[in-house]
Amino acid sequence: FLFILQAVVLAYLLGSIPFAVVVSKAMGLKDPRSYGSGNPGATNVLRSGNKPAAALTLLGDALKGWLAMWFAMRAGLDVTGLAWVALAVFLGHLYPVFLSFKGGKGVATALGVVAAIAPLLALGLVIVWIVVVLLSRFSSLGAISAAILAPVFYVLGGHDSLWPTHDELAVVIAVIGALLLYRHRANIGRLIKGLEPKLGKKS
Ligand code: G3P
Repeated sequence: FLFILQAVVLAYLLGSIPFAVVVSKAMGLKDPRSYGSGNPGATNVLRSGNKPAAALTLLGDALKGWLAMWFAMRAGLDVTGLAWVALAVFLGHLYPVFLSFKGGKGVATALGVVAAIAPLLALGLVIVWIVVVLLSRFSSLGAISAAILAPVFYVLGGHDSLWPTHDELAVVIAVIGALLLYRHRANIGRLIKGLEPKLGKKS
């Protein structure tokens, strides 16, 4: 149990590293919490007009999710331990100790976690995100669609044996999906009112 607890604390701390803020500072850009949606995430960094900074944010936030899971697997944690580590790194991004618990929405970090659990599933969700965003130009709608489909795909793909499924991981993917929707509640409100900004428009 102590072993899982250590892994969970480390995963939370890793998840707490806010790459949107770190990358922006390192590249001499404004703090992403001060413009656009105010969200420290790749989508909002893109609103600065700096595409490399947005790409690095996406990469960093996804990589930390993937790394936490990779370390946990290498350390030999069982599925229950992996489920807790997945939740911990994700919650670290949402409620980071380094930003007074005001973090991002978790899209990239969730993707990294899923990529470690089932790479094919991550690929499928990226495709969903890309198709929805190409059709709608709303980054948030892509994320919302992928969040809803993630647990569905995970369970269905397990039946078709695209990847091994575990109840604990199905639950954690569903919980992460629900938290993603919760973190997008302001976006959902704006989407309904037609006020959500489209990608590619600076603000
Ligand atoms: O990754 C977060 C994205 O889905 C929405 O971000 O800045 O448009 O609220 P934002």
